[in-house]
Amino acid sequence: MAKVITVANNKGGVGKTMQAYQLSTYLAHKGNKVLVIDLDSQANLSVTLGADVRRTLIPEWLIGDVDSEDVIVPAEGKQDFYNNLFVIPSSRHMANLAKLLILSEAEVRKNAGRKERLLKLRIEALKEKFDYIVIDTPPMLGDELIMALVASDRIFIPTQAQDYSIDGLEELMDTFEIIKESENPSLDFSIIPSMVNARRKIEQTRLDELAQSFNVTPSIRNLVDMQESISLRKPVFLMGKKSKGKKDYNKLWNSLGL
Ligand SMILES: Nc1ncnc2c1ncn2[C@@H]1O[C@H](COP(=O)(O)OP(=O)(O)OP(=O)(O)O)[C@@H](O)[C@H]1O
Ligand SMILES: [Mg+2]
Repeated sequence: MAKVITVANNKGGVGKTMQAYQLSTYLAHKGNKVLVIDLDSQANLSVTLGADVRRTLIPEWLIGDVDSEDVIVPAEGKQDFYNNLFVIPSSRHMANLAKLLILSEAEVRKNAGRKERLLKLRIEALKEKFDYIVIDTPPMLGDELIMALVASDRIFIPTQAQDYSIDGLEELMDTFEIIKESENPSLDFSIIPSMVNARRKIEQTRLDELAQSFNVTPSIRNLVDMQESISLRKPVFLMGKKSKGKKDYNKLWNSLGL
């Protein structure tokens, strides 16, 4: 039975897609069969995994009009781990989800009861075929993020160590609590400091404050080799021994028991 992990933060540009990329490739590299579901119409993760994003039917798949076999594609790359990695890619077309949900309201109600449960319903059968399902989400508290929270076992929340970023967390944590109480009692979360500038004292102070309210994991620093990882489409675990990004992520995955 696949474990379902969503990477989420309603704030933009905090390193969600980076995290989902490093996580899904790492898990595949460790021999797990991994499905990535990209719920963000920006489709950055789909592109980084080499998926064709010109014509994706992910909204139609969510409402049940299209079968899973018709939306799952293999990730494209040379290394062996790509054989274990599959994607349900996103595209600009994902932005039509809200419209489609209104148009098919009766059908959605009949199948899922509530639209929030659609993704959970759709991945039920897929859970037997994969070891992990990793979901990337857009930077807003909309249908996609709510669906992902309902469907997941764990939420990874990358957070920058800055005032407004930490303030934004409250909104997400409120939503998390509501979903946990109403739809998904075993939902678990981890707060992951991301793109941290270790030399800036103020960031360390913010992180210490954050650690007083929540359990926080080891940090991922703001590093040039992380940017290279995306532009070269090379996960950090493939980088040399000296890579700081590789070090940070190894520490993180260990602390999360992955
Ligand atoms: N640890 C890091 N060090 C340096 N650069 C990073 C790091 N993490 C992410 N980045 C870069 O920061 C930018 C934003 O990261 P990313 O796209 O992962 O954020 P996001 O939260 O998914 O954004 P969005 O909300 O738009 O989906 C990207 O250019 C990415 O390459
Ligand atoms: Mg993103």
